[in-house]
Amino acid sequence: MSMPGSLGRSGSSEGSVWSLLMLLLLSAVCSGAPSQETQPSPLQCNLSPNSRFDCAPEKIVSKEECEARGCCYSPAEHNGNIGQPWCFYPPSYPSYKMDNLTQTDRGYSATLKRSMGTFMPRDIMTLQLEVFFETESRLHFTIKDPAEKRYEVPIPTPQVHGKAPNTLYDVQFSCDPFSLVVRRKSTGQTLLNTTLAPLIFADQFLQISTSLPSGYLYGLGEHYIALNLSLQWNRLTFWNRDLRPSKDSNLYGSHPFYLSMEKGGSAHGVFLLNSNAMDVLLQEAPALTWRTTGGILDFYVFLGPEPKSVIRQYQDVIGYPFMPPYWSLGFHLCRWGYSTSNCTRQVVKNMRDAKFPLDVQWNDIDYMDAMRDFTYDANRYGDFPEMVKEFHQQGMKYIMIVDPAISSSNTPGSYPPYDDGLKRGVFITDDKGKPLVGKVWPGLTVFPDFTNPETFSWWYDMVTLFHDQVPFDGMWIDMNEPSNFVKGSVNGCPNNELENPPYVPGVVGGSLSSTTICASSQQHLSSHYNLHNLYGLSEAVATYYALIKVLKKRPFIISRSTFASHGHYAGHWTGDVVSSWEQLYYSVPAILRFNMFGVPMVGADICGFGGNTTEELCVRWSQLGAFYPFMRNHNDQDSVSQEPYVFSGEAQSAIKSALLIRYTLLPYLYTLFHKAHSSGETVARALFIEFPTDPNTWTIDRQFLWGEALLITPVLEQGKTEVNAYLPIGTWYAPELGTGIESKGQWMVLPAPLDKINFHIRGGYILPAQMPGMNTEESRKNDLLLVVALNPDGVARGDLYWDDGESLGTFERQDYTHVLFIAANNVLLNELIRLNSQADGLKLGLVTVYGVPSPPKKVLVNGIASEDYSYTLDTKVLVIMNLSLPIVQEFVITWTL
Ligand code: NOJ
Repeated sequence: MSMPGSLGRSGSSEGSVWSLLMLLLLSAVCSGAPSQETQPSPLQCNLSPNSRFDCAPEKIVSKEECEARGCCYSPAEHNGNIGQPWCFYPPSYPSYKMDNLTQTDRGYSATLKRSMGTFMPRDIMTLQLEVFFETESRLHFTIKDPAEKRYEVPIPTPQVHGKAPNTLYDVQFSCDPFSLVVRRKSTGQTLLNTTLAPLIFADQFLQISTSLPSGYLYGLGEHYIALNLSLQWNRLTFWNRDLRPSKDSNLYGSHPFYLSMEKGGSAHGVFLLNSNAMDVLLQEAPALTWRTTGGILDFYVFLGPEPKSVIRQYQDVIGYPFMPPYWSLGFHLCRWGYSTSNCTRQVVKNMRDAKFPLDVQWNDIDYMDAMRDFTYDANRYGDFPEMVKEFHQQGMKYIMIVDPAISSSNTPGSYPPYDDGLKRGVFITDDKGKPLVGKVWPGLTVFPDFTNPETFSWWYDMVTLFHDQVPFDGMWIDMNEPSNFVKGSVNGCPNNELENPPYVPGVVGGSLSSTTICASSQQHLSSHYNLHNLYGLSEAVATYYALIKVLKKRPFIISRSTFASHGHYAGHWTGDVVSSWEQLYYSVPAILRFNMFGVPMVGADICGFGGNTTEELCVRWSQLGAFYPFMRNHNDQDSVSQEPYVFSGEAQSAIKSALLIRYTLLPYLYTLFHKAHSSGETVARALFIEFPTDPNTWTIDRQFLWGEALLITPVLEQGKTEVNAYLPIGTWYAPELGTGIESKGQWMVLPAPLDKINFHIRGGYILPAQMPGMNTEESRKNDLLLVVALNPDGVARGDLYWDDGESLGTFERQDYTHVLFIAANNVLLNELIRLNSQADGLKLGLVTVYGVPSPPKKVLVNGIASEDYSYTLDTKVLVIMNLSLPIVQEFVITWTL
């Protein structure tokens, strides 16, 4: 770090009056000597509109009101979803001054003092800055109130002692006003620069702005938006809400993390660990403003430098994803409206009769008695347990929905989840200390407080009792924003500062209690105001630990509401998407973003949930869905049916072919999930993550990859039988063509008739695959296949992770098989990294080699000549059949040219 008083190299946004003024102001401060009060007059108001930062975020002000705040007023254009501010800070607007910057054994610490309050109530005039040089690539800093402990997000984060000896970053401070600049040492690129606008830290309004190195910004979910976020006066609001995916809205989850691309392809990330209602403002400067309504400022900066490393470094803080059971990678089918167990059985039978693979049958709230959790309807679902057992006998699994809200209007003694919960004090309370009552599906309801340890054990008891009756395999946790059909509670909400904070982020409905419970309701750890965004996460954590104990196998949980670290416990589906082409497209950036958030187990409801699908849309959605990490077709009760078997023969065969492709590729997908679990890799991957030095990839969100080696190009528009595909630099093989396309990084038009989903295998990679089955219990017994896609040098590599597919902690206990496959010089061999008995029966049956330049003269399998092969000159594909090679033994396959 350079000495106080210096300022970092200007980034692109800093050539403003601000920077100049900063340079002038940064003299002889931070020495402990009192600095001169900066006189705000005359105001420097001639800032370009893009460099303005809003001085009236909480309301519209008149010129007089604005100037009374010490701010500049100048009407500007309305564009983006918020428009340029009319009332904005002059460079001289009072901020904090830094004192006592000292070196600590973990980094730096300093005191920040403000001598004049802002327009927000309860400014905290003295703050403590702590800077931690945690690792070579991770910087952590916090700004807190040293006098009074404030709410902090209760998720586990790494505790680092000491200071990284070498870092990729360099931190500079300026003192009056305080600001912090983080640069990448290797390029000098400014990554974070908080000089642009004043720091505000009031009790319920915390704001800090930073420059961005480029317009290529990703993350900041959950929102219905393109992958590369627009910086045109864009406001993204974080306050978990039950709302079908819609533009400019706060949705089900909150992930205050972004990744930003830098010139040359380096990337860095920033995570604000804060769970309060929040807005992030983006503007073309390019700049970003964090504006939150409570807690502390707790920032992590990840230096990458590759986007992949940024994502892994983020997950080092929030936790790596859970390892899913193998069966969960199969096809899931659900609908709201399967009104009886027989109707559900019929659906499964229809799937079987029509020969569609199906691993997991689901039920929505239809199974419940009076829509109450942990019950089932004695008439319509009287043989519910038997139904589930039958599915098990067919090699399938079963999942049902559970909502957090517990029915509270039953005759006492008739509904144990409520009676017991009440006795154990597990429900969120209102201002009178009584359980807060809202309304959800069963009518009047109360809301479990999953931050209370007693709730954990009550939830476990409920899950256990239900599982004793119905042997389900996973849980679908819905409505956990938490959703409430009345605003706040049946008695409304009190009028206090938590319900009506001085600044309300851009939440749909304009109020924090809109479609949820009162912000001032009380939870074990803190107020709901602080904990709201953690409700779904806390339910997921409770469910995860309950299922571990109940099933003694890997839990599988799909949750609607999420927060940072969710992926460590559960997956996500993107909620009530509508059956439209627009929603089909937006599901791609949604899935890619959740992968960046460490929630790789994610998918959208295939064919759309709300509204009526069409045959064409459902086929295209199934083709795309075959490449969602989580593949479920789910439908609303009022819409036309959309199970695969309801469509024409032509549509059915297109859907079947997509499903069979997925089932064939499951060993590759499972290996990718292992890499997510063990090293924070993404499963569904944006192109820019894999090809960061190719700026053409930075905006692509209509294509994506599975891992490194499979490029998927879905049709996302109605009536199209061609699709534009970008093939990044390298060799790409379309399996049906065989011949590789050598791309220098170029766009191509690919034929895409209705029965086809385009995907390409990347030269240089080997994909483990398997003959498909009607479910994964069957497919796991089939022969393995290897797809060898040679690069122009005739080289390829790949690997397979294999275990029993369901036991807990197989990777951690080292109870798995890991095999490498290497092809070079016309030889394919395996290398056994780790073996366990699970892979004993697994045999390699067939190898397909793409890119073999000429017909082989002979093929040797473990030194023995084989005639069981074919070579096609046109396509340059060699297929070696009838192999029967145990995967746990070394093999060598040679083709002599
Ligand atoms: C809302 C969920 O998002 C949807 O998937 C479900 O079908 C309904 N709740 C009914 O439970």
